[in-house]
Amino acid sequence: MFFKQFFDEDTWTFTYFLADELSQEAVIIDPVKGQIEHYLNLINDMGVTLKYALETHVHADHITAGGLLRNNLGTLTGVGAACGAECADIQISSGDILTFGGNEQIRVIGTPGHTPGSVSFYWRDRVFTGDSLFIGGCGRVDFQGGDAGELYDSITTQLFTLPDETLVYPGHDYQGNEVSSIGQERRHNSRLVDKSRAQFIDLMNNLNLPHPKYIDQAVPANKVCGLDDSERQDAKVNAIATGNSAQTMVLDARQQICEISVGQAEIEMQQCDALVVIDVREENEFVLGHINQAIHIPRGVLEFKLQNINKLADKMTPVLLYCGSGARSALASVALQQLGYGKVMSLAGGYKAWSLK
Ligand SMILES: [Fe+2]
Repeated sequence: MFFKQFFDEDTWTFTYFLADELSQEAVIIDPVKGQIEHYLNLINDMGVTLKYALETHVHADHITAGGLLRNNLGTLTGVGAACGAECADIQISSGDILTFGGNEQIRVIGTPGHTPGSVSFYWRDRVFTGDSLFIGGCGRVDFQGGDAGELYDSITTQLFTLPDETLVYPGHDYQGNEVSSIGQERRHNSRLVDKSRAQFIDLMNNLNLPHPKYIDQAVPANKVCGLDDSERQDAKVNAIATGNSAQTMVLDARQQICEISVGQAEIEMQQCDALVVIDVREENEFVLGHINQAIHIPRGVLEFKLQNINKLADKMTPVLLYCGSGARSALASVALQQLGYGKVMSLAGGYKAWSLK
């Protein structure tokens, strides 16, 4: 197993790279756009496939390299579902297990507070805490929907209940530290030691820190995976250049439709009785596992079989389409819209994302 900690001196940000050398699969956590050359060099040198680019939250201090890594390498981007980053391939939630390299598992621990969508990643003997817990400190709560009480609960009931020897790898450090442990933070973190929840809230709400220098660019950019307009076009151009016309069609389709996350899909299913869920994959995929309430109509015959679904006589009936990863359902959603259906949604990340929840 290969592990590397990168440091971006401009924003004091740590990035983590985990790789299974046997299967040659890797994961990166909180990549910084300005450092992408370093990541690409390492990936090329090692000859690994970068499976996931994960974010502990939507950052205010730097722009993510996630979107560019996806453009360059086909990496799947993953961001907490409550972060509002609809660009992400996977909307991750607390309790999700992300696997790579065959047997490697990363468990997602919801640690809201610094932002509502903040998560930590627990892998082997270490936890990547983003801005939820620093070495001797914690992330601020005075913008992006931060909540000091939630942060206190996340740290004390989620992170501090991990084994004492768990290594803590934070999202930033401003004092030259690189790693700590849960035991060390539980005993010595000055923001928390001997403080009640109310005292912590009072302290956090009165830090009076200046805003991060890149906040106005970083937050909106990170909600679109760190890509600017031309880089989003590059994604299309890349697809064309590599002769992948299917990929080009999918990218076009995704700009015309409403994609929703797994979390949003669950809410729709709970709250909307009229919702029709259609699995557009092939029979052999459907039988291996599907969403319980889904009707199975393969993409190739979708337009011809819709009339068999009584509810769809009304073209304003909400329809949720899904496939394996969100590509076929994006194309199918465009087709339904062209047929006049007014409330068509496609599940971002498809059944792959659904099965991670
Ligand atoms: Fe942050």
